[in-house]
Amino acid sequence: MILLFLAFFSLFLQTTLGNNVFPDDFLFGVSTSAYQIEGGWNANGKGESIWDVFSHNNPDKIIDNSTGDVAADSYHQFREDLANLIYLGVHFYRFSISWPRVLPTGFINHVNPDGVKYYSDIIDQLLSNKIEPMVTMYNWDLPAMLQELGGWTNPNIGSYFVDYADFLFSKFSHKVKYWITFNEPGEICETGYGLGLNAPGINMSGIADYLCGKTVLLSHSKVYRLYKSKYNNGKLGISISTPWYEPKNKNVKADVKAAERAMQMEFGWWAHPIFSRHGDYPDIMKDRIKNLSLANNFTGTRLPYFSKDEIKRIRGSADFLGLNHYTTYLVSPNDYNTNLTSHVKDVGVKKEIDPKWPASKARWLKVVPWGLEKLLIWIKNEYNNPCIYITENGYPDDGGLLDMDRVRYLAGYIKSMLKAMQESQVNVKGYAVWSLMDNWEWIDGFTLKFGLYQIDYDDCARIRKPKSSVNFYRDLIHVMEIPAICFEGAPVIPKIEHI
Ligand code: NOJ
Repeated sequence: MILLFLAFFSLFLQTTLGNNVFPDDFLFGVSTSAYQIEGGWNANGKGESIWDVFSHNNPDKIIDNSTGDVAADSYHQFREDLANLIYLGVHFYRFSISWPRVLPTGFINHVNPDGVKYYSDIIDQLLSNKIEPMVTMYNWDLPAMLQELGGWTNPNIGSYFVDYADFLFSKFSHKVKYWITFNEPGEICETGYGLGLNAPGINMSGIADYLCGKTVLLSHSKVYRLYKSKYNNGKLGISISTPWYEPKNKNVKADVKAAERAMQMEFGWWAHPIFSRHGDYPDIMKDRIKNLSLANNFTGTRLPYFSKDEIKRIRGSADFLGLNHYTTYLVSPNDYNTNLTSHVKDVGVKKEIDPKWPASKARWLKVVPWGLEKLLIWIKNEYNNPCIYITENGYPDDGGLLDMDRVRYLAGYIKSMLKAMQESQVNVKGYAVWSLMDNWEWIDGFTLKFGLYQIDYDDCARIRKPKSSVNFYRDLIHVMEIPAICFEGAPVIPKIEHI
């Protein structure tokens, strides 16, 4: 009787107070992407991507005028990376395949055997070391030739993406159990085709970004349906990024509405068609864009709608939600009193930060761990508790080896995620740090360092060195428990023992 009472009491304590232990089947990993780490931009038959073209032709658009031509040289140094993955003890490695390395022109009639071998070797080496490969098919490096056809604003590009995906499945699906179609459709479309900041540099916000979005969502769903009907031996999802949007003042109704609108029109743009009960874009998105289009002398909405059949095919087209999350914003309404057509005006919010939030090296990233818990609970309620893998979370700094700010950031966010799992039963199954090593951070070049491993970019040998965060993450994975180092007041003793 006493034993039974004790068992119930300890269960009660665990569920009410929580503990810092992860479930046995929880997966920890690290993330990278091809263009940011591989280099070998024209090696052994690789074709050009839009990022090769963009960085070569517009050095002024990259903060340090650098390119990803060599990057972390992973194309030649994957063995070093593998050793580091093994040392970390990660359960999975999320990396992306470069479409033009495998199909140099983008079309299926021209395969580059060297590219196929490169990824095949990576997958085999991971598996023989008991590390699950999680493969992203598209991390922004569209074959340049397809951009000549309009890139993602051309609906026909979708069928070439399906060919490419089918090819990858045919080669690797017996080995790869986790697939991600697109990494961050919002950044692909909004930053690449709306704001023109990323490749391909198209500046047509409120129009081209929406065309791109329709093609990307449809392409994703086609690849999902293909995978389920022809292969179906693993899980396939999509990685969507979002900050948490917190109302600037919770007692002001307009702020609460604006924050919800930002969630729906930024994150829901992608998540709602796939994960919501009824599918399609969120109503608020359709309404606002239509009204603003008409008010601005368009004859109809600028948002290209899906047909009924398309809505049906996109709805439910994912086995999991990949979530990329870094930071939080305070939100209030803003009408942007301008005639300019833009997605920002369509959303109609002002995003600010609380000056008290700890900063990072990136202007856009402040440290707000509680935002992750709120975001996860919002997703659970909005989309009926989908299976979630956090496919990116990380902290940028100057790249020093004693990266205690990164350790604090990761500890804080991981704790916040665990809290959401324990107290709100959010269905998070895995978590990956961005990134395994310092890499080429798009238009921020080499100025932002996100890595657990340091790379000295002035040294052409690109030697990898472990930072303190390696020990933190390794210990965490080893014990599947947030280490005591993370509790307030605990002494922080960095130990760097692995070269
Ligand atoms: C978003 C992207 O997926 C990744 O490529 C980028 O480097 C990180 N987040 C950090 O900005």
